[in-house]
Amino acid sequence: MSYPYQITSLAQYEAEYKRSVNDPAAFWAGIAGHFSWRNQWNEVLNWNFTEPKIEWFKGGKLNITENCLDRYLESHGDQPALIWEPNDPEEHHRVLTYRNLYDKVCQFAHVLRNNGVKKGDRVCIYMGMIPELPIAILACARLGAIHSVVFGGFSAQSIADRLVDANAEFIVTCDGAYRGQKDIPLKSVIDDALIACRFVKRVIVCTRTRTAVSMIKGRDVWWEDEIKKVETLGLKDFPAEEMDAEDPLFILYTSGSTGKPKGVVHTIAGYMLFTNYTFVNVFQYKPGEIHFCTADIGWITGHSYILYGPLSAGGTSLMFEGIPTWPDAGRFWDIVDKFKVNILYTAPTAIRSLMGFGEAPLKDKDLGSLRILGTVGEPINEEAWHWYDEHIGKRRCPIVDTWWQTETSGVLISNLAGITPAKPSWATLPLPGIQPVLVDEKGEEITEASAEHGGLLSGNLCLKFPWPGIIRTTYGDHERCRNAYFATYPGLYFTGDGALKDQNGFYRITGRVDDVLNVSGHRIGTAEVENAINMHAGVIESAVVGYPHDIKGQGIYAYIIHDVHHGDPEHTRKDILATVTRIIGAIAKPDKIQFVKGLPKTRSGKIMRRILRKIAEGETSNLGDTSTLLDPGVVEEIKEGKL
Ligand code: WTA
Repeated sequence: MSYPYQITSLAQYEAEYKRSVNDPAAFWAGIAGHFSWRNQWNEVLNWNFTEPKIEWFKGGKLNITENCLDRYLESHGDQPALIWEPNDPEEHHRVLTYRNLYDKVCQFAHVLRNNGVKKGDRVCIYMGMIPELPIAILACARLGAIHSVVFGGFSAQSIADRLVDANAEFIVTCDGAYRGQKDIPLKSVIDDALIACRFVKRVIVCTRTRTAVSMIKGRDVWWEDEIKKVETLGLKDFPAEEMDAEDPLFILYTSGSTGKPKGVVHTIAGYMLFTNYTFVNVFQYKPGEIHFCTADIGWITGHSYILYGPLSAGGTSLMFEGIPTWPDAGRFWDIVDKFKVNILYTAPTAIRSLMGFGEAPLKDKDLGSLRILGTVGEPINEEAWHWYDEHIGKRRCPIVDTWWQTETSGVLISNLAGITPAKPSWATLPLPGIQPVLVDEKGEEITEASAEHGGLLSGNLCLKFPWPGIIRTTYGDHERCRNAYFATYPGLYFTGDGALKDQNGFYRITGRVDDVLNVSGHRIGTAEVENAINMHAGVIESAVVGYPHDIKGQGIYAYIIHDVHHGDPEHTRKDILATVTRIIGAIAKPDKIQFVKGLPKTRSGKIMRRILRKIAEGETSNLGDTSTLLDPGVVEEIKEGKL
């Protein structure tokens, strides 16, 4: 097996890029021809960015699981599709061949159907990183249900919000999840979430940690019992539901600049094509190789590059249940050696954290199987890039710095490993089919180099033409999708990121230009954290900004006006942290809390975050224009109290 659309030289990249821009429909139709369809599409592309309305391959009929599983059964049913490494290195790993995975997905699709799940229903999946998670996801896709995976670190409140938003009546979860030395009681979090969500009809609970759980009669069932029923009935193959190219495949919630996370919706064919195409080209995957993406499947990176990208390409994907630092900081390297991993895809925050342990954890590690390295999720600083290159890749593995977003399905800007040039800290060139532009505040295309940025073009990063994996809508609220991505600069998709562009056309992503933080590669909205902080009875008002953090990339800095009558500020501080953990999850806990008497506001009452950001970054002299402030005195007070 090979991939006819895999780019193998720089010249070919240039030619393909030109072709993709000159005739996008013909370009993507050519790629679509390599997948398995029940019926040909009516029209390749129909789009406008005003509504927005984006349809790729509308009328085409297919099922994504036939593309990920069935079509590989004959040619390589015995090859590993998924390799699973448990949290505890003493526990045995598991290998699921394409045949095994197919059987299990069919079985669980029967379970879902027996429990009342129908095509189009939303199924919330809240599980740890065990093989049953991909099985549950693919079973939804086989049956035509829309999966909505929620990362295991989110709180009961966050789950409840998502269940309500998606009107999800079905949940698949685990009793608990292992992460390092911790045992996270997932089912009990679900139980808390469901106190307010009486519309949930069924919770299917998979056993992992054997933590005690309360199974509610009539609502909760055990995964294992349900599988036994299917076996007793002799149910095996599950005919894949015939789906339209533009039917939703999944909803994944992500943070934006407003308070509530948005349910990003991706549709079947476009998502499949784009994750497959980018997987094959960015990582230069070769059949038989082992691809290890260290993300959690609860995030888009896991959806696209643990599951759908590798599986639709007939590849072998390794999933890891644990964390990089347990039992020690050599765990990733042990896994690489144990399975002879060829491609390692991780986040800069993980690299920086492992860098902090020095070279000792690398002693006696071979790492000779590695061929390609990748990073994702946040800008990678040069120091981390060079460490990765020198100590992990031993200067012989190309590093791909892949820029993309939950909304884009897959990688938009990145070098192609070993094919197009790399440049430390630069995502470099757009993939074929991707047409970036840099614009100024007014939406005018930037054509003049900026002196401030060393003669580079600098602006807000937008895309002017759709690719198959672009977001279709935000679930239940299309207007929100328009406002968040298509209204700022009419005619363009706005990414929320700022970028620089050099003379070679290389892009460097400089970070978010909106009120979204990127903490350890996870997106968190400042408004979301503020809302959570403000829930606490002792808080009058708050303002949250990001500040540079050595390991996390960005840390969360909260300025809080607290009610002095509420008692000891130290207690209030702890209570605020507990509140944020309860409302969002531990990932959103502020790293620093500064109690202040007032916040810098304009006369119209708007908080001037620019000033707060500068103070949090340690800048105290050059705060820019403060003349529009209602009370410039608060700035002095905040500066004095800086942590
Ligand atoms: C940031 C993760 C710089 C960016 C796939 C984007 C990056 C946000 C990179 C999306 C990169 C992602 N270099 N910044 N290589 N990759 N980002 O939705 O700010 O969790 O907008 O998707 O992460 O985060 P999300």
